[in-house]
Amino acid sequence: MAARRLIITIDGPAGSGKSTTARMVAERLGYTYLDTGAMYRAVTLSVLEAGIDPFDGEAIRRLLPSIEISIRYEPHGQQTFLGPRNVSADIRSVEVSRHVSRIAALPDVRRFLVRQQQSIAREGGFVVDGRDAGTVIFPNAEIKFFLTATAEERARRRFKELQNTDPNVSYEETLRDLLQRDEFDSVRDASPLIRPPDAIELDNSGLTIDEQVAIVVRTVRERYPNP
Ligand code: CDP
Repeated sequence: MAARRLIITIDGPAGSGKSTTARMVAERLGYTYLDTGAMYRAVTLSVLEAGIDPFDGEAIRRLLPSIEISIRYEPHGQQTFLGPRNVSADIRSVEVSRHVSRIAALPDVRRFLVRQQQSIAREGGFVVDGRDAGTVIFPNAEIKFFLTATAEERARRRFKELQNTDPNVSYEETLRDLLQRDEFDSVRDASPLIRPPDAIELDNSGLTIDEQVAIVVRTVRERYPNP
């Protein structure tokens, strides 16, 4: 019988290259990529579209049972749905990015999504990225990574990405939003962003995406020759 396929987690702050790395590592290994941030973004989009004040935790809690998130895998990657609607593009807006960390700090929201994330990836064969993938969602994952880079480097990357969708955003604004999100994600009580003690830390400030993907894949294969 084939060995159980692995769960690989990749955590780190905004702009650390987690999602690109996780997606490419999954491709190389024939695994599936689970972008947990997309699910927090989908909840945030629902809240904003329902006209609920993102500071009103109680109203958000009441909205949760009606939020139906599903993840589908298509040739061009993970697609995130709210009910029947594909929201993969809408969840990347500046508006959603601005509010997502506050909403992700609510324990009810985390419980709601963590349960779904565990059930999606529990059979293994997944690369899961997020803030709490190696600490809360899959504390027993076979291999955990923690990606870091300087805030300036991360803001530069994010700014470059945003130029396609939001040409009016400045670098300074991008850096400010990112630092604010780092602060919020790190100090919250519920599942703050921390490096799992057993994670392999990779500072990729000076690395290209290909180099960092190669390091992650090599590290996995050193431990599990047939992942
Ligand atoms: O890609 P980027 O780092 O900008 O963010 P993301 O992965 O799309 O996640 C957006 C936000 O969701 C983060 O800033 C966190 O506040 C929250 N999040 C979380 O709390 N836990 C996760 N497992 C994933 C995301």
